[in-house]
Amino acid sequence: MALMRQVFLWASRQAWLGDQFRRRRFAQVAVRRFMPGEEVGSALEAALAVRPKGISTVLTQLGENITQLSEAKEVADHYRGVLDRIGPLGLDCQISIKLTQLGLDVSRDEARQFVAALVKRAAELKNFVWIDMEDSSYVDATLDLYRRVRAEHQNVGVCLQAYLRRTAADLESLMAIGPSIRLVKGAYREPASVVFPKKSDVDAEYLKLARMLLKRVAGRPGTRVGFGTHDLRLVEQIVRDAQAAGVGKDAFELQMLFGIGREDQERLAARGYRVRVLISYGSYWFPWYMRRLAERPANVWFVVKSMLTG
Ligand code: FDA
Repeated sequence: MALMRQVFLWASRQAWLGDQFRRRRFAQVAVRRFMPGEEVGSALEAALAVRPKGISTVLTQLGENITQLSEAKEVADHYRGVLDRIGPLGLDCQISIKLTQLGLDVSRDEARQFVAALVKRAAELKNFVWIDMEDSSYVDATLDLYRRVRAEHQNVGVCLQAYLRRTAADLESLMAIGPSIRLVKGAYREPASVVFPKKSDVDAEYLKLARMLLKRVAGRPGTRVGFGTHDLRLVEQIVRDAQAAGVGKDAFELQMLFGIGREDQERLAARGYRVRVLISYGSYWFPWYMRRLAERPANVWFVVKSMLTG
């Protein structure tokens, strides 16, 4: 299993493989399990479809590591348009952005300006922007950018990854600014020097960080807490801890990915928890899809099935 995970994470970095794979029909069919379509319109339709079940959403256009600022501007313009489309639909639907898709590798300053402008527009529309966390080489730049944008606007949150050894210290130092945090386990291929290599240690770290968030962030004015995981054992422990600590159901969200644990999402929403589903779309899905296969190598059977059934 660990080897399969490494293979998929290695594959996620191979552009040539992505070009080959993306063109195959079976691959396009298999990826539909995690993505309603390549266009933002499909993502919005999916958001409308889950709303009656009491499920909120967050949209993300797939893409990372752009090399030209002109591409970053296109992405920023695209997201601005998405924010404008969400408003009239009356959806509780946010956006989640990747900094390397907004030019972080090219100019940190320009990337920050793109993010700040999006967050400002979202504030005008009473919406919210989440910043994804990418591989460990970007953590410092991401948190630095987050701090600067957060100093001007409250409606922005950042993702932290429990598999990183540094995250507890990062969370502690963010406490001073009243952060909004989405906590996830972490999806990238990283050296053992920076991550906890054993899954059981990552799970334990996740719970430790979740408890810090429940105790010191959840329910504070101007903050949001999202637990981004499909690990139901962890989810149940977190909701028990929240209840024991008197943290209301409204003070945090349970966030999951489109297509994973759909029935669990509905069950949790029916129990009165705030559930938000992240819906991805776009044509640049190969690296992201490889990370989904790495999380659960059994997913590869969907690819095989799609190959066999055409
Ligand atoms: P874990 O991997 O332990 O899985 C628990 C159970 O969930 C599995 O046993 C299985 O049943 C199910 N499951 C998990 N993944 C599955 C899959 N791909 N297919 C089918 N079933 C699956 N990462 C990151 O590095 N930066 C980020 O910004 C984000 N953002 C983000 C937002 C949101 C809303 C979510 C839910 C996740 C992310 N992630 C992320 C991804 C995250 O780091 C992690 O890789 C996945 O959530 C999978 O880990 P779990 O916490 O679900 O646990």
